[in-house]
Order: sequence, then structure tokens, then C-alpha cells
Amino acid sequence: MADIRENWRGLVAAALESLRQAKAPDAPAVEAASVSLETPPDPAMGDVGFPMFPFAKLFRMGPPQIAAEVAKLLADNPETASLGTVKQVGPYVNAFLAKGTLAGDTLGAILAGGDEYGKPGTLAGKRVMIEFSSPNTNKPLHLGHLRNDALGESVSRILKFCGAEVYKVNIINNRGIHICKSMLAYKKFFAGKTPESEGIKSDLLVGNCYVRYSQYSKEEPEKAEAEAQELLRGWEAGDPETLELWKTMNGWAEKGIAQTYKRTGISFDKFYYESDTYLLGKDKILEGLEKGIFYREEDGSVWVDLAPINLDKKVLLRKDGTALYMTQDIGTAIARNGDWPFNQLMYVVGNEQQYHFKVLFYILQKLGYDWAKDLYHLSYGMVNLPEGKMKSREGTVVDGDDLINALRDGALEEIAAKGREEAVGDPSEVAEKIALGALHYFLLQVSPAKDMVFNPKESLSFTGNTGPYLQYMGARISSILRKEEAGGRSLEGGKVDPSLLTHDAEWELLKTLGDFPKQVIRAGENHDPSAITSYLYEVSKGFSRFYHDCPILNAGSPDLARTRLELARAVRIVLRNAMNLVLVPFLETM
Ligand code: ARG
Repeated sequence: MADIRENWRGLVAAALESLRQAKAPDAPAVEAASVSLETPPDPAMGDVGFPMFPFAKLFRMGPPQIAAEVAKLLADNPETASLGTVKQVGPYVNAFLAKGTLAGDTLGAILAGGDEYGKPGTLAGKRVMIEFSSPNTNKPLHLGHLRNDALGESVSRILKFCGAEVYKVNIINNRGIHICKSMLAYKKFFAGKTPESEGIKSDLLVGNCYVRYSQYSKEEPEKAEAEAQELLRGWEAGDPETLELWKTMNGWAEKGIAQTYKRTGISFDKFYYESDTYLLGKDKILEGLEKGIFYREEDGSVWVDLAPINLDKKVLLRKDGTALYMTQDIGTAIARNGDWPFNQLMYVVGNEQQYHFKVLFYILQKLGYDWAKDLYHLSYGMVNLPEGKMKSREGTVVDGDDLINALRDGALEEIAAKGREEAVGDPSEVAEKIALGALHYFLLQVSPAKDMVFNPKESLSFTGNTGPYLQYMGARISSILRKEEAGGRSLEGGKVDPSLLTHDAEWELLKTLGDFPKQVIRAGENHDPSAITSYLYEVSKGFSRFYHDCPILNAGSPDLARTRLELARAVRIVLRNAMNLVLVPFLETM
């Protein structure tokens, strides 16, 4: 949409330039950039306006006089015919845009582009590695992970849509004290049990062990802690029995977590494992120690001094030489750059780890990696349920699977209440997609930095600014198109003629559709999918208005009916493309 305005700016500049050649031959040429582009206060005065004040001195003429000459030159220029009409308004040259040309350009671009429509190409050639989800293998995914997963997957899709090469990675934090806590509880309280014997999802069994450990550590805090530490030492020393249990329980955790990823449409190009990278981290820390980048305390532990970044100090290796969370992240980052050199590595991780990433990036820079400047923490806020805070330690964690199941059941009820079971085909499949649409749209609607409350009931509402409402819009348009393709009644002989789309509602809708690439750029630049969710809502409102004000079948002429139908098809394309970016499944029927 912006293009035709730019065309006008170019033509105005060209007219000014020919005026300059006549009036001020010694002055430098007029360039398009020196012509400002404004929007007149009243559309009756024109769609775009170009003030002539800046040229008064140059031409030694009054601005209205210049405007009159430029307007005349433009009116005589055959190039302006397809772009609209021009008029002098006081010191301004104003243009009325040719709606037909604009409508034709926009409609044509969308219908020809299809799945590709809206790709701005702004990040072509850029290699972005993005880490998200990154669970610990001591429990299933919870509501916080669902926000993380939605954000990571959505930002990945948006950056890819902008033309970047995107590599999605995950770090499975599969070692360390928290894993040993689940293992300890298993040995003490669940020995011999399996997911099969319990009839539960495999990651849930591991999670139940973790909850049981919390209880145990409340009863006997010192004993529990000592026993868990003992297991950790055994693990690092390679004790076969400990390693065996570790493998089994990690297998359970990962298998269950992978099922949830599959269900929610989240995927990764590569999984990293802390157990593979922490030793590399240790080596690099010892190298840094030799070079004097880090220092050893009397008890043998290794530290980094953070005074240069106005922080305290951070331990990198414990006194017994065992690794910490930071240790493995150093190794993981180095391994990643070796595997897939990137222009940027983005970590999607909660804002409670801001300190951790600040320190991590500093350490990597101190170690001399020039790519340390390309590391970025995409930090996001907490997500709670209306009832209050979720806390895993108390065992009241909001399990991700449970939440999606509840949403699915709610959607199923809604389908039944509306008597749509037959119409939708497979109600449970459709209900699952509505649940994901509700979940993802609600989570992504809030800018990442903000804390939020996930309201399951609101998210599922079929009206208002929700995922299901957009899915309903998409299904409605699909049904209109289906009917027409089958019957074609009033379209007989109709031809597409975008110049017929002159109704305000059509015009506004087209402008919104033409805005899609800009919104994608904005979402990509800010790493904020909420630009897309707001945009989707605009599109659906625009369509509602159009559908209400501009009858398709009773348009009055076959050409207009056919053209409006194509406009509806264009809306469907944009909805589909945008919904895909925010992980809201498109539904043909609902
Ligand atoms: N597994 C960690 C946790 O649950 C998050 C990992 C974030 N990523 C990283 N590279 N440190 O807290």
C-alpha cells in the first residue's frame, strides 16, 4: 500500500526537478528524499499531501504558486493516470489515490502469493540459532514451559518468514542435583514402579518422584539433602547403578516431554544434553584459570570476578570440582557455535535468569569468543493461573498436559452445546485444535516482557479477541468459498475487477491486508508475536465489517460478486499465514 504513495512522491520530485531546471539551473537537483509526504487532515482534500514551503526560497516563488505549477505538470504527465488524480490545495500538492490500482495491486499480490504472501525478506542471509523450552528432566512441562515453547516456536517462524535461516535448539538439563532428587525419591518410595505399572505418562512418574522428594526433604531436610548430594557424587564418578537409574528416568522424562512437543506442534532441529557439554565447560574454565581470567579460592573452588560489570563474583566450579549450571552453559554455547556458526544466538528463558545470562555472556567474552557479542537473552515474564501462583515444590504445579486436556474438554463441550458434532467431522480432533488455538493466542497476545495471568475460560471464548474467534472467522470464510465453488450461482460470468472495490469497508480491509508484511517486520524486530495477534484481530474485525456492509452474493452484479469473493479469499490467505506464525491451527469447519 505504501508503494503508490512513494510513486507519487517520486513524481512530485520529478516535477519539482523540471521546475528547478527552468527556474534555478545552478542549484542542486531536487531529490525525492527532500519532498515530505503528509496525510491531509480531511480525506476530502486528498489521500496524500506534499507541502511546497521548502522550495519557496530555491525557486523564489510563493508556495501556492509552486503547488499550482507542480499540480499542472503532474496532471499533464501520462504516468499519473493509473495512480490517481492531483489537485493544488493552497501551498500543498494533494493526490487522490487511484483506489482501483491500489486494490488491484494488493489483491493481486495476495492471491498470487498464497502461502508466501507477506514474506518481507528483510532477514535474508541471517543465521539465527534460537534456544527454547530447555526443560529439566525431573518433571513434566508446566504452564511456564508452554509460554516459553509458544514464544520460541512463534519467534522462530516469524524470523524464518522474514527470510532468516533459523536453527531451533533445546538444551536438556539432564544432570545435577535436581535430577538426583527425583532419583533418590524413586529409590526410596517408588522402587520397581514403571509408567506402565502405574498407567501414567512417563514424565509424570518422574514428576511424582520429585514432588515426593519435596515432602521427604520437609520431614528430614538434612538427611534428604545429604543423600541427594551422595547420588550426585556417584553420578559424576560414574557409579554404574546410579547411571543406570539416571538413564531410565531421563528416558521416561524425555519421552513424555517429546509427546507434549508433538501435541503442541513444537519442534527442534537439535537437542543438546547437559551431560554431553558440561565437561567441555569444565575444560574451558580450567583454561581460563591458567590464563588468569578466573581465580581459585583457598577451598579450591574457581570463580570469576564480576567487578568490571558492576556485579559481585560467581562460582564456576565447586571446591570438589563438580560442575554447576553455569559450567554447562559455557560448554553448550561453545559447542553450538562450532556446530552451526550463527549471526545470533537467542535464548528464550524466563526473566528470573537475567543475571545468569548477563554473567554467561560476560564470561564468554572474557574467554575471547568474538561471537559472544551475538548472544541475546529473550527474557519473558511469569505466567500464572487466576487462582494464584504455581509452585512446583509444593506439588501444585500447573501441568501442561492437564491444562491442554482441560481446554480440549471445554472446546468439546462448546461444540456439543452448539450442536456442531456432525458438521465438524471429528469433534475431538477439532477440539484439540481449538484448545491449542486458545492456548497459543492467549499466551502470545501479551508482550514477552510482561507477567501475565492465563485465564482458561477467557481463552476459549468464541467471541472477542481470542484464538477460537479467529479460527471461527477462518472457518466461516472457508465455508463461504466452499459454497461458491460448489454452486457459483450469482457469480455466473462474473469477472474480477478490483476497481469495483470502492466501499469504505472494502477499502479499509484492503489497506489492512496490505499491511501484513510491515506487521511481520515489526514482530520480528521486537521478537514479539503480539504484533501478529493484534494484527489478526484487526483483519477479523475488518472482515466482519466488510461482510456485514457488502453483500457478496447479492452484490448486484456478477463482477462485483466475483471480486468480493476474491477479496474474501485474500482475507483467508492472510489469516492462514498470520495464524501459522502464532501457532493457531487453521480450521476449515468449526
Ligand atoms: N533448564 C533450565 C531451567 O529449567 C533452563 C535452561 C535455560 N537455558 C540455558 N541455556 N541455560 O531453569
